Amino acid sequence: MGKVYVFDHPLIQHKLTFIRDKNTGTKEFRELVDEVASLMAFEITRHLPLEEVTVETPVETATAKVLSGKKLGLVPILRAGLGMVDGILKLIPAAKVGHVGLYRDPKTLKPVEYYVKLPKDVEEREFIVIDPMLATGGSAVEAINAIKKRGATNIKLMCLVAAPEGVEMMQEAHPDVDIYLAAMDEKLNEKGYIVPGLGDAGDRLFGTK
Ligand code: PRP
Ligand code: URA
Repeated sequence: MGKVYVFDHPLIQHKLTFIRDKNTGTKEFRELVDEVASLMAFEITRHLPLEEVTVETPVETATAKVLSGKKLGLVPILRAGLGMVDGILKLIPAAKVGHVGLYRDPKTLKPVEYYVKLPKDVEEREFIVIDPMLATGGSAVEAINAIKKRGATNIKLMCLVAAPEGVEMMQEAHPDVDIYLAAMDEKLNEKGYIVPGLGDAGDRLFGTK
C-alpha cells in the first residue's frame, strides 16, 4: 500500500494557513501555493540518488556529489496543478513537464479527461503528479491511470490538502504510489469539497468562479 507523508515543516504549515484563509486574495494565494510547492519539492526530493564527481575548486581538486539516476517528470492536473509547477521547477529546473487535463463533473463528481501530453521517454522517468486537492480521489486516480497507460511505472502524488476518502481511493487504485501532503483534513462535504480545506483551488488560483 502507498505510504502517506504529511510534511509538518513549520514554514509549510504557516503558509498553508494563509492559503486556507478565505480573505487571502488571488495574487497572494498564487504566491503562497508557489512557495509551498517549492518547500514540498525540497522534502520530496530527499531520496534522490547522488554520484561522486571531481571538481576543481579555486584551491584544489575536490570530490563532490551531483544528482544521478532517473530523470524527473512533473505532471500537473489541469487546472489547479499548474499553480504548483513553477515552485517545483525553481528547485528542479531540468524536470520535464507533462499535463493531464481533467475536470470534475459537478453532478457526478466523476473526473472527465480532456487532455494528456507527456514527455517522450515516459518509461525512464520518475513522475510527480501534482494537484493542490485530493478530494474524492477520482481526478488523481484517473490522472495516474492515464500516465500508467502510456508507460509510466515510477510515480509519486503531491497535493496540498487531502480528505481521508481521497487517500483511501488512491491507496486502493494505485498501491504503488506514495502520497505527499501538506495537510490531511477531516472529511468531504455533500458537494465533494474538502472540510475545512481551502475552497475551490482552481477558482482561487485563477480568479474565476
Ligand atoms: C479540482 C482539483 C482536483 C479535483 C479534486 O479540480 O484541482 O483536480 O478537483 O477532486 P477529486 O479528488 O474529487 O477528483 P476541478 O475538477 O475543480 O477542475 P479545475 O482544476 O479545472 O478547477
Ligand atoms: N476541488 C477543489 O478545488 N476543492 C475541494 O475542496 C475539492 C475539490
